Amino acid sequence: MGGMVRTLRVAVIPGDGVGPEISEACQPVIEAAATRAGIRLESTPLDWGGERHLRCGAPMPEDGPSVLRRFDAALFGAVGRPDVPDHELIWGLIIRLRQELGLSVNLRPALTFPGLPTPFGGGAAIDLLVVRENTEGEYAGAGGRLRRGSPGEVAVEVAIHSRAAISEAARFAFETARRRRRRLHLVTKSNAMRYGYLLWDEVVAEVAVDYPEVSWERVLVDAMAARLVQRPEELDVLLCSNLFGDILSDLTAALVGGLGMAPSANIRPGQRLGVFEPVHGSAPDIAGRGIANPGGYLLSAALMFDHLEAGSAGDRIRAALAHALRQPELRTPDLGGTATTAQLASAVLAQLQHREASRK
Ligand code: NAI
Ligand code: MG
Repeated sequence: MGGMVRTLRVAVIPGDGVGPEISEACQPVIEAAATRAGIRLESTPLDWGGERHLRCGAPMPEDGPSVLRRFDAALFGAVGRPDVPDHELIWGLIIRLRQELGLSVNLRPALTFPGLPTPFGGGAAIDLLVVRENTEGEYAGAGGRLRRGSPGEVAVEVAIHSRAAISEAARFAFETARRRRRRLHLVTKSNAMRYGYLLWDEVVAEVAVDYPEVSWERVLVDAMAARLVQRPEELDVLLCSNLFGDILSDLTAALVGGLGMAPSANIRPGQRLGVFEPVHGSAPDIAGRGIANPGGYLLSAALMFDHLEAGSAGDRIRAALAHALRQPELRTPDLGGTATTAQLASAVLAQLQHREASRK
């Protein structure tokens, strides 16, 4: 590797609503972080999302997943617009990519930033990671509707839990816990759901045998909801099914500064290509005003760099963002401030460049 500049090819999918505003403001930050880590970033914008759906009848081309296979990673903003049914975009884009690219695990870290207010006041520092199974469970898409429109109408939505997907997510979660604080909580609901979640309990117990240094515990999802509010600082890695991980990760996001700050990575263990995206959606209530928090997107880019082993690029973004957020006047309205997306992103960029200068 010595001295050679690596090139990373990244598909940038800004999407809808606040997605494009955030993506545009953050692109220079992401490029600067790459450059300073000795990486050449080759970004290719893709127009996928709700606007394309209205124009072409689908949110991405039919061969969208194959298009992404030509890249090292995709950085995704958000999709969703009031004039397109949500399920068209969630299924036509997000879930399709996760399933067809085999992105079996979704990582959602929640980390408190020094000085940033949290909903429960001066609580202890939180540093936890939700590891969510990403392709099946309640979101497998198996089901149907009968007797449509009649008073006797019924809908069936069948959850699918496979040994293979559970053990892949579990192994990844234990590997990660081993490198962190060696504590893992499996979140299920096997008292009320006797098939899928019992399989989870069994398979995870089998995987756990290979990780004797990680202490782990099984917690029911409702109890975990309470525990996250009461003692989140004791938690490290939470291993969750698709549905529970989706719900609890909005809660963990809220614990550390809100949805605007929450990043995620859709990956497959051992595979290079992943999709990195903030947890939030297109936020139509604030779109067009330039006040969306770019934090979740920047932290997602940092996860992308971590996954691609892009040297210090991810740490540079996190450090520069943390530094900027110490100043209340640089916080966006969702964090109680008055800064715009562009002001916060520019401050992060300046911080990245300043750090570099002071290093010389
Ligand atoms: P949302 O995440 O877009 O917004 C929820 C609340 O959080 C809103 O009050 C919004 O203003 C705020 N918020 C979100 N991101 C923010 C940011 N960066 N800075 C400051 N505040 C922020 O979720 P909602 O309203 O349920 O859905 C809106 C649309 O987004 C829908 O069409 C939905 O389907 C879609 N959606 C898309 C996702 C994706 O692209 N991955 C994920 C979640 C929702
Ligand atoms: Mg969600």
